[in-house]
Amino acid sequence: MKKYYIKTYGCQMNISDSRKMADILDGAGYEEIRISENQGIRAIRELEQCDIIVVNTCTVRANAENKGLWFAKSLKHHKEKNPNLKIIFCGCIVEDKKNEITKLLPHVDLFIPPNSSEKLEEFLVFSPSIEKRGGNRAERGGGEFVTIMHGCNNFCSYCIVPYVRGREKSRTPEEILEEIRILGNQGIREITLLGQNVNSYKYGFAKLLHMIEKTIEGEIRGLERIRFLTSHPKDMSDDIIDAVADLPHLCEHIHLPIQHGDDEILKAMNRGYTVDDYKRIAEKIRNKIKGVAITTDMIIGFPGETEKHFSNSVGRIREFAFDQVVTTIYSPRSKTAAAKMENQVPEEIKKERLQRIMKVTDAMALEQNKKLVGTTQEILNGRTRTNKIVKSNLKGQPGNVTITSARSYILYGGTTNDTRK
Ligand code: SAM
Ligand code: SF4
Ligand code: F3S
Repeated sequence: MKKYYIKTYGCQMNISDSRKMADILDGAGYEEIRISENQGIRAIRELEQCDIIVVNTCTVRANAENKGLWFAKSLKHHKEKNPNLKIIFCGCIVEDKKNEITKLLPHVDLFIPPNSSEKLEEFLVFSPSIEKRGGNRAERGGGEFVTIMHGCNNFCSYCIVPYVRGREKSRTPEEILEEIRILGNQGIREITLLGQNVNSYKYGFAKLLHMIEKTIEGEIRGLERIRFLTSHPKDMSDDIIDAVADLPHLCEHIHLPIQHGDDEILKAMNRGYTVDDYKRIAEKIRNKIKGVAITTDMIIGFPGETEKHFSNSVGRIREFAFDQVVTTIYSPRSKTAAAKMENQVPEEIKKERLQRIMKVTDAMALEQNKKLVGTTQEILNGRTRTNKIVKSNLKGQPGNVTITSARSYILYGGTTNDTRK
């Protein structure tokens, strides 16, 4: 049997694209080779067995981009040893560097821009049916992604995504419901709806959530959980919060990136809300959705960030009691407005601030997790409904777990008592 390996960098959008490509390759009769994260590209023997290697790349920060490019460059030796090996390079770098990419990577056989997995079908001259989708996934366990909208219109001043993923385009509710039905009927128990800003879904996001709930209740008994990513504070409406509070399949977790804790920087970032606006939304979420977890993203060292601006970001972590904060050092991306700003913060200062803020986010996450010790949590795919990772004796099976101890990013569970079928 022919073999393939897919290496994925970047966000859930890329993970979703990679899964679609895996489905296409599975459908074409290839077998996936899995390489653990810590083995990575040092897994020479596994890579040597491959007939196809797919590198799905991200360009949101310089180091994400460098990792993908470096891996693809390192495959040149494999191609020299095995000229039949097909190397496929795809994802956000392809769009960003479309004029230079063939020169940078002359040994690559096919370049695929983001969200264009049909190009792989054309390459293989093979077209699997949509019913194939999810077939192998259910056996492998885990949840599935359903993209509800592509692209982004927001042009946050630091972000390259609108340039590489294009403008916002929503799929129709009918298409989305059909995909959910197919996945549900194949035994998928958890689905994450994806979009860069799901709250601005063209046909009404709250309406879509209600339609999904109704479909699950009427037709798809096995589907237990619905999640969504990512919410933008400027478009977070009451009816979306109400839907999460009221609809039983919607999980009590909202990822609501604040990006910065200072109004001046938020304005320079072109985010379209103030810290006070964020506060009102966060309070509404906490008041309406019982036991909710709120997670966020923060960028450290945006151009012009002073010590005072930075300490405002640090202060918001406790103020909003975030369950988790994904902190990243600002990375200038060509084409974006912020890259052209003059007052760039020196690398050493950014790194030092990152270390400081991480101590606070780790402590806050631990404090939030400790509140769960002694509670019973419903576990699916190793996570609570609030998306916290739980280690227990369930060994990957669904069930109920009583939390016995907590660390910042992991909970431990003891007795299990699964009453579900
Ligand atoms: N659409 C989502 C939003 O608005 O929050 C997330 C999109 S982005 C793919 C994921 C995260 O990457 C962002 O939340 C932001 O924190 C981070 N990010 C984007 N551009 C960045 C840059 N130039 N430097 C550092 N972090 C960046
Ligand atoms: Fe990037 Fe902003 Fe769009 Fe998110 S909302 S993808 S951060 S431009
Ligand atoms: Fe995602 Fe990276 Fe592209 S974060 S949208 S894979 S640039």
